[in-house]
Amino acid sequence: MKNILVSTDDGSLGFKGNVIQLLDEKINLLLTDKIKVFSCGPNAMLHALKEFCIKHNIDCEVSTESAMACGFGICQGCPIEATDKDGYYLVCKDGPVFDIGKIVI
Ligand code: FES
Repeated sequence: MKNILVSTDDGSLGFKGNVIQLLDEKINLLLTDKIKVFSCGPNAMLHALKEFCIKHNIDCEVSTESAMACGFGICQGCPIEATDKDGYYLVCKDGPVFDIGKIVI
């Protein structure tokens, strides 16, 4: 990997602020190339990231988290709402990585 950007809330390393603020600050640099965002983290951040990527037409995949009982699609205990079909995906069976546009987050 190259051109790694780092942000910390307190500014102790890299950009001072959250990752969405960092991306917003660097958007002109980022949009000079075809880019894709890969992310994991808290749902509030993923939600903000989804809005940012849709606004700037940036491809994005996220690794989601869910409590899991069976881990292979039997218990239906790890649903995540789908946007591209009726119903839900199962994080354990269909994910955990999803195109950010295919899920409600
Ligand atoms: S953990 Fe059981 S269906 Fe996903």
